[in-house]
Amino acid sequence: MSDPFDFKPKMDEYAVMGNPIAHSKSPIIHSLFAEQTGEPVHYSAIQVDPGGFVQAVGNFQAAGGKGLNVTVPFKQEAWKLVDARSARAERAGAVNTIKIEADGLFGDNTDGVGLVADLIDNNGIVIRERRILLMGAGGAARGVLAPLLAEHPAALHIVNRTPGKAQALADAFADLGPVSGSGYDRLALEPFDIIINATAASLAGELPPLPAGIVTAKTACYDMMYGAKPTPFMDWACQQGSGKVLDGLGMLVEQAAESFYLWRGVRPQTSAVIAQLREQLSNA
Ligand code: ATR
Repeated sequence: MSDPFDFKPKMDEYAVMGNPIAHSKSPIIHSLFAEQTGEPVHYSAIQVDPGGFVQAVGNFQAAGGKGLNVTVPFKQEAWKLVDARSARAERAGAVNTIKIEADGLFGDNTDGVGLVADLIDNNGIVIRERRILLMGAGGAARGVLAPLLAEHPAALHIVNRTPGKAQALADAFADLGPVSGSGYDRLALEPFDIIINATAASLAGELPPLPAGIVTAKTACYDMMYGAKPTPFMDWACQQGSGKVLDGLGMLVEQAAESFYLWRGVRPQTSAVIAQLREQLSNA
């Protein structure tokens, strides 16, 4: 006879799709959230071949999957694939979270709110009325622009190696706030309150060509990348005297929390999860 007290709820299936995916921290983050909230969530990582994304999502949906995170290089493809999008995903041109519903796929983008939550809630950084410099004009920069502008900075300047892309991005978001764009050589040499690195430079161990004179002790410097060691931008920021130098680990956990909330209607606590991941990173 089966034990009536041995009841285990049936798990709802979630996954992250990307390529590469082996080092993704999303499965550990979401299993910590599931444990903490008691939600019956099982979360795995799925490596998808280039050209195989639509099929992979279809297979996951057919198997009864409830939701997906999407990472490099499929966020734009996910944007095209979904049946409906949140306003922030619409603007970002990229989807990192899919909720699989009875009537189709709903796409959201939680990267920007993840960054803003990490800046404001976890690190006490004020955005309102402050001057922000955003480095990079690719998908990562585009994904965080609307949520940053929603916090009403005094000015947000996008700087990029290819200046035309910074200008085009600024033009595309000009209706949302005081945003401008240029190349690095045209940067006004005045200090910024917050400098955010949304370029792919850290991945390659490179430093964008930033001038001296834009950092004071009051400037917060944030790299959206993270790793066991500080990125070249974080080292540069310390050398320039920045009083607050941060990596993107908190943003990673916060964007995951927002995805979890979209799927489950329950908002997980993030601080213990960030601390646990930080410890794992430092022991890596
Ligand atoms: P992602 O989706 O990560 O944003 P992307 O769309 O390829 O990736 O964009 C990469 C961004 O990093 C671009 O803004 C790129 O500058 P360009 O538009 O001039 O290519 C920027 N980038 C990459 N390597 C860089 C480096 N070494 N220094 C400065 N910017 C760099």
